Amino acid sequence: MSKRVLTTESGAPVADNQNSASAGIGGPLLLQDQHLLEKLARFNRERIPERVVHARGSGAYGYFEVTDDITDFTHADFLSAVGKRTEVFLRFSTVADSLGGADAVRDPRGFAVKFYTEQGNYDLVGNNTPVFFIKDPIKFPDFIHSQKRDPFTGRQEPDNVWDFWAHSPEATHQVTWLMGDRGIPASYRHMNGYGSHTYQWTNAEGEAFFVKYHFKTNQGVRSLSSEQAAELAGRNPNSHQTDLLQAIERGVNPSWTLHVQVMPAADAAEYRFNPFDVTKVWPHRDYPLRRVGRLVLDRNPDNVFAEVEQAAFSPNNFVPGIGPSPDKMLQGRLFAYADAHRYRLGVNHTLLAVNAPKATTRQNYGRDGFMATNATSQGRAAKNYEPNSYDGPTETGRALSAPLAVTGYTGTHEAPQHTKDDDFFQAGELYRLMSSEERSRLVANIAGGLAQVSRDDVIEKNLAHFHAADPEYGRRVEEAVHALRED
Ligand code: HEM
Repeated sequence: MSKRVLTTESGAPVADNQNSASAGIGGPLLLQDQHLLEKLARFNRERIPERVVHARGSGAYGYFEVTDDITDFTHADFLSAVGKRTEVFLRFSTVADSLGGADAVRDPRGFAVKFYTEQGNYDLVGNNTPVFFIKDPIKFPDFIHSQKRDPFTGRQEPDNVWDFWAHSPEATHQVTWLMGDRGIPASYRHMNGYGSHTYQWTNAEGEAFFVKYHFKTNQGVRSLSSEQAAELAGRNPNSHQTDLLQAIERGVNPSWTLHVQVMPAADAAEYRFNPFDVTKVWPHRDYPLRRVGRLVLDRNPDNVFAEVEQAAFSPNNFVPGIGPSPDKMLQGRLFAYADAHRYRLGVNHTLLAVNAPKATTRQNYGRDGFMATNATSQGRAAKNYEPNSYDGPTETGRALSAPLAVTGYTGTHEAPQHTKDDDFFQAGELYRLMSSEERSRLVANIAGGLAQVSRDDVIEKNLAHFHAADPEYGRRVEEAVHALRED
């Protein structure tokens, strides 16, 4: 076999890849050494901005297969028939640390799915937790600042983490979840995924429903204790990445069963708490799980940078039959992601293979910008304006989802009040669901963090939240914190 020739970026053969060109033996280097200049310059540009959150992640391809008829509730094409398969790409992630962190840490995990449907890409950008810490997007940058590295000390600070939660009683439910047994998954394969927010589905008759998504792992939920995680994170910071890659390479393809909870749209206004509040779950006795299908991951990406680092998921990528609910957090997210992609990847990120539609083609009048590699993708001499007289693509006139009714005045309102909207009762319910061993581990995990806080008033405010959730919960955390601080 003839040897392949090394070339420059422009395809010219490279004479020497070991020695730079110099002015005589031992002399200074020459500006005319194109290969050297190009190699160093190219290397300097290898990194792009990491995601501002969820920087560290792993991804895989697979498919989603419909197992149950759900067409009473949505006319989404990819859910239209039992047996229908749609290609997917899923990216898992940790949230708070930067790209160089470790996998086995106490942190929520991202669970972002891109469905390459025949009606365009549908992104469901969820987590492994059914709830979230806050319920208004205006608090998100502050929340994330408090959880990521401190600008002065350069590390995550218990003072900041707990100070934010002290001022955010709505976080109590998610904090209880995070500090509990499921707070550190054993691997990405051994955790559930949730859409977390409430979304809207519309059926073929135009009837609207509100839904919550639950991906239940078929591998079983497995978690690590704080001690196991600390040991693993030190020994193998890439433990989750390695586990996922190796499982799929061995043909042990992980899968999840998708269920939804479905609420008729008319129930929403009178439900006992705000059904669009992402800090709360819907009890299954009110809205039971209905099985929809199976998600299987069966192919690793060939190139982590090209396909995982450059993957772009946006909660605003909907398909006909699925739309947003009035959940304020979700509404904020509808802006934030595509904006992040334009900054992080550029305006043409949708042309990258992992982000481009696979089961349909993009047809519109968006043009140009940095890295426009699709000059003739709309057809040679295609018009770049609409309406036109040249048979260019036109709108359907059919709304993607049903309209949402709104009333009242514009302004910075607090969330709508329902009869049972307090921030604590579901944290209490979660606590009471736990076995006594789980409660003890939860209390120890919380106390371990809270006891490191330097200000008594911040500790007291947090304790008040646990007391409000459940008197026993509050008492036990308080005793554990005081015991640790007296040590
Ligand atoms: C990533 C913003 C809440 C799940 C991101 C990114 C931004 C962001 C800017 C980086 C995107 C990128 O560079 O590609 C926000 C804002 C939120 C919010 C403003 C609240 C208003 C949430 C919630 C969830 C979530 C509630 C889960 C239910 C994720 C996931 C990723 C992510 C999974 C990583 C996606 C990937 O793998 O590329 N978020 N986020 N976020 N967010 Fe959020």
